[in-house]
Amino acid sequence: LVMAAAPAFGQAYPNKPITMIVPFAAGGPTDLIARIVGERMGKELGQQFIIENVTGAAGTIAMAKLARSAPDGYTIGIGHVGTNVANAVIYTKLGFDLLGDLEPIARLPANGMLVVSSNNVPAKSLKELVEYLKANPDKVSGGTAGIGSGAHLGALAFNKATGVSYQLVPYRGTGPAMQDLLANQIQVMVDQSANSLPQVQAGKIRAYAVTSAKRSPAMPDIPTAAEAGYPMEVSIWNGLWAPKGTPKDIIDKLNAAAVTALADPAVRKRMDELGLDTPTPEQMKPAAFAAFQKAELAYWKPILEAAGVKAE
Ligand code: MLT
Repeated sequence: LVMAAAPAFGQAYPNKPITMIVPFAAGGPTDLIARIVGERMGKELGQQFIIENVTGAAGTIAMAKLARSAPDGYTIGIGHVGTNVANAVIYTKLGFDLLGDLEPIARLPANGMLVVSSNNVPAKSLKELVEYLKANPDKVSGGTAGIGSGAHLGALAFNKATGVSYQLVPYRGTGPAMQDLLANQIQVMVDQSANSLPQVQAGKIRAYAVTSAKRSPAMPDIPTAAEAGYPMEVSIWNGLWAPKGTPKDIIDKLNAAAVTALADPAVRKRMDELGLDTPTPEQMKPAAFAAFQKAELAYWKPILEAAGVKAE
């Protein structure tokens, strides 16, 4: 029996809990995905994943904190197309180098967005919602999770597709924004299905369309935006990153745990129910994920620059 050589630095990694930074408030889609995946990864690695919600500036504060953390595998972060692509174009003082200071660990599930309103809005279709917004510009405001957040990208896409824009109210996440939507404090949102679909299914808010190219099996009776007359495609994909310099064997161990977590039938069921599409193990690999992130940066940069979206 050949014993594996004892690692140079004490016990094998991980030998203590792992912190996962979540760039938005508890109760939102990013937080929910982090908790589902983190809990199952923790089981795989035999260490607890501790969620740390670091909010503000649509996730730039969180990612800057991650970039400054020790590259030892004990601090990782979940981010998405807003925090780890759009913000690099939007924020002139990002506080870190998106590609230079962060190391991709694994690509995570993606979800389309739902165009939703409070039940108080007198519209029964996307067309009627657009008419209502046009006729009542001062009566309607909508939630985002800050400039560059997924909900903000969704609002931009909505504006481009319908020619109508609504007053944007920034929250620390679309969890808190949802509370105001339920209370009709705000009236509309373009929000990740992971956050809005349960509320739609409970009859507490109304969905008009989904922004994915085809309908989601989780919500077969919600038309795509194209079917509803206003083609718009936005998908909010998620991923895990570590500080640059985290050893490759640790990155690979975290990647393997994420692949196992997303292959777990109970996790798959939750992802499917929430309208999330899970990438293949090959797509989840660090190198494939890094290439995907770069391609997304090339896609969103001209769009965001043309839209003149800028923030400090
Ligand atoms: C967003 O980008 O809108 C955020 O993901 C919302 C959230 O997770 O709270």
